[in-house]
Amino acid sequence: MGPPGVGKGTQAAQMQALLGVPHVSTGNILRVAIQQEGSALGPEVRRFVERGRLVPDGLMGDLIAERLERKDSVAGFILDGFPRTLEQVDILDGVLGRLGLELDRVLMLKVPEAEIVRRLSGRRTCPKCGSVFHLESRPPATAGVCDACGAELVQRPDDTERVIRERMKVYADQTLPVAEAYRSRGLLIEIDGFGEVDAVRARLTSGLGKV
Ligand code: AP5
Repeated sequence: MGPPGVGKGTQAAQMQALLGVPHVSTGNILRVAIQQEGSALGPEVRRFVERGRLVPDGLMGDLIAERLERKDSVAGFILDGFPRTLEQVDILDGVLGRLGLELDRVLMLKVPEAEIVRRLSGRRTCPKCGSVFHLESRPPATAGVCDACGAELVQRPDDTERVIRERMKVYADQTLPVAEAYRSRGLLIEIDGFGEVDAVRARLTSGLGKV
């Protein structure tokens, strides 16, 4: 977990390869739903995501249960962006209980706010495969083109200044209490997310061994 733009997706994608378990990003699941033509869910979800508001807990609970019950999650998974409310903590407890699983660790990335602004304003994403780039720190080989699939890179619609401000507020109001809940369970490990991607990954992997 961590605030918008702190590097959760970048790190989780790398940890997925390292640990051999799927990266389950609720943000990515919702963006795919928005893009699916003819889906009833897409327009409903878009209203929340593009304003920086949280999608209702009940709907998120159904999405996460469906995802974690798939075969590829049996050996574990990396959750990115879930849970984000105390209600979602309870939902996750219920899903994990049904599956006979427990959370191993909750890793929380932290960086100064100025760095978050820099990261979000320079982010470019691939609408086709979800790869994430940055104009300065992780530029694609060809400007504006995804290295992985060749699609044209875009700026996420929720990366405008107004929506970023709303996402930060929602994070402070609704998601920081989640960190406190996991701290009181002894699961939370705070990680300095500032610096090179590889250096942050090394801190995360060492954090994984600390509980
Ligand atoms: P989501 O997609 O989860 O957005 P977020 O939490 O705001 O996080 P971001 O994806 O913006 O950032 P990130 O931390 O993954 O950073 P990244 O690695 O891309 O959710 C989007 C929306 O969906 C929510 O606002 C909400 O509406 C909805 N939603 C999602 N989950 C929900 C839930 N559970 N309940 C209800 N609603 C939900 O990095 C950012 C940039 O920095 C990139 O350009 C990257 O290249 C660069 N970068 C990364 N690391 C470094 C580094 N070490 N040094 C320099 N640059 C770096």
